[in-house]
Amino acid sequence: MRAGIVGVGKLGGAVAQAFALDGTWDELVLCDAAPDLAWAQAEDLRHGFARDPGVEVFAGELADLAGSDVVVLAAGQGRKPGMTRLDLLHANAGLVADVSQSIARAARNATLLVLTNPVDVMTTVAWSATGRPRDRILGSGTLVDSVRLRTALAELKGVPVAEVDATVLGEHGDRAVPIFSRARVHGRPLDLTPEERDGLLQEVRGIAARIIDVKGGTAFGPAGCTATLARAVVAPTASVLPASVVLEGEYGLRDVAVGVPAVVGQGGVIKVEEWPLRSEEQAALQEAGRDLAGFVEDAAVVLGLAVRHTTLDRLTSA
Ligand code: 2OP
Repeated sequence: MRAGIVGVGKLGGAVAQAFALDGTWDELVLCDAAPDLAWAQAEDLRHGFARDPGVEVFAGELADLAGSDVVVLAAGQGRKPGMTRLDLLHANAGLVADVSQSIARAARNATLLVLTNPVDVMTTVAWSATGRPRDRILGSGTLVDSVRLRTALAELKGVPVAEVDATVLGEHGDRAVPIFSRARVHGRPLDLTPEERDGLLQEVRGIAARIIDVKGGTAFGPAGCTATLARAVVAPTASVLPASVVLEGEYGLRDVAVGVPAVVGQGGVIKVEEWPLRSEEQAALQEAGRDLAGFVEDAAVVLGLAVRHTTLDRLTSA
């Protein structure tokens, strides 16, 4: 199995390490606009294996992504203290449109995993720019938020994280929607007070900013979750994971990528599960989707691309 990572700064570098240690990949190609950085990250990674690493890590150019099963797009500006993910919209949209097209040309059969923020908008931009089917483009969206929710619930209930099942859908950002109606501890539904729910919601939406304030960025969390998604894309059996997927009418949304429960297996997204949600959860998910569609339109304006107002059909050169 071959994976590529485009953009190997702090976050992409952590992704590279997570992939190198995962045991899934035979070859790992690291690419960066600064070739020296790709070289240095590849060298440093190689020195972490005292014995047979089982994976060949090397720096390359985009053309070297040919034959990849999965390519992670982590290029672009990261979130700095005081910034929201959406503050990065204008900085990253053009780059994601360009680079995703180059990746699609170089690695024709790869599934693209988008990590660049704001990830739901960038996943839609990559889908629009490349013209690839939606099953081949996933955003590493609310999987990390789901793990954050599980971690917080485990602390609240005093149980190991492994005993908690909980999922966040919607935007990887301020419109994240914890699906409390399906949260379980030891397999049993949860009785949470309104205050507890609000505390958990604030935790899910705010924890990344608190980490960024202290250490300048998040890395291990999103990197580990991206490795999980990538493994699912090449696994022989499918699994259900929250990921940002371009919707085709599911949850009443179309042509915009939103965090949803995706059946992920060989080749990418097999289908989107439509969970029965409480009315307030469904409404929050639709609101997130509508707002994200508006941000995609903003991005289209920045890119000088035409976008159909109502359907957000494929962006086509104006
Ligand atoms: C995160 O949630 C910053 O989006 C990044 O860790």
